[in-house]
Amino acid sequence: MAVEQPVGVPDHPAAAGDATAVAHPNIALIKYWGKRDERLVLPWTDSLSLTLDVFPTTTRVRLAPGAGRDAVTLDGVPLAGEPRRRVVAFLELVRERAGLALPAVVETRNTVPTGAGLASSASGFAALAAAAGAAYGLGLDATGLSRLARRGSGSAARSVFGGFALWHAGQPGHADADLGSYAEPLPVPVRALDPALVVAVVDAGPKAVSSREAMRHTVDTSPLYRPWAASSQADLIEMRHALDRADLDAVGEIAERNALGMHATMLAARPAVRYLSAATLTVLDAVLELRRGGVAAYATMDAGPNVKVLCRGADAQRVAAAVRGAVGTAAVHLAGPGPGARLLGANPDAN
Ligand code: DP6
Repeated sequence: MAVEQPVGVPDHPAAAGDATAVAHPNIALIKYWGKRDERLVLPWTDSLSLTLDVFPTTTRVRLAPGAGRDAVTLDGVPLAGEPRRRVVAFLELVRERAGLALPAVVETRNTVPTGAGLASSASGFAALAAAAGAAYGLGLDATGLSRLARRGSGSAARSVFGGFALWHAGQPGHADADLGSYAEPLPVPVRALDPALVVAVVDAGPKAVSSREAMRHTVDTSPLYRPWAASSQADLIEMRHALDRADLDAVGEIAERNALGMHATMLAARPAVRYLSAATLTVLDAVLELRRGGVAAYATMDAGPNVKVLCRGADAQRVAAAVRGAVGTAAVHLAGPGPGARLLGANPDAN
């Protein structure tokens, strides 16, 4: 007997075979640092971020029935080693879910300046999840897409959404933990808040330790990890209230202390992981100086020495000038709230 499906929600959506998606990086104001499950990429704590309007990643995925294996390029250059392994492992997951064994051609274009300290894995895996999900016909909604992107890189779960996003860690010990861990967009009075991020690239070189490795080492060896995780959950509650009232000073204060706390967990790891450099501290001094001068400016740093300064859009040029004045060699980029991941229309050159 035929079973009726709601219009537009086919039981087994047809694989498009060829799809292109674009996604933007996000910066966490409440950080994700530490996994409770490495395979499923389940974090210990909730995190909260702002998706940016700069440096999109565009990824095209085409099924390649005749090919012997996946072909993966980044800006036209074939990927090798660990970066290729991560993309292929992600495609395996998509293929398993789709029940399709076909290899794919994956072409990614990144506009993030090399080493800008803007998580390219977040925009990268959000774009890959959206393109591969469509190419292999997974028929995911935004929540499903966020769960899938999470498996590529945790922070990618948040880049599925534009503006502010909250990534739920999910309940430890829950029967289907994968289902409970996804991001969702947060309704925030963005116009009243007028948030901007001034990105100060003080060192564009590759990082010595990957964030994946560093967070594992921190969870395993740092006596400060558990206290930070507990305080981070408290920070999140305060942050949500601050966002609701569009209180940029409170948002900035909480974001700055959360990031410094995360770096403290790493400094206390054995041996220590230290991403912050002398130039980072110079920018932090400049941020303090701005605050003393009455400008709302607050710093956050990820797995690298570069600093993202949260301020009002109206103050962004002034903040950028202060940062340039402090570290003359720093490249400075201005960003505002950006959109979530989306599929692009039919590929003009597809046939
Ligand atoms: C410091 O998402 O890159 O930027 O899940 O291992 O791929 P994996 O880690 P990743 O870690 C990002 C950590 C961070 C903080 C954050 O974005 O929340």
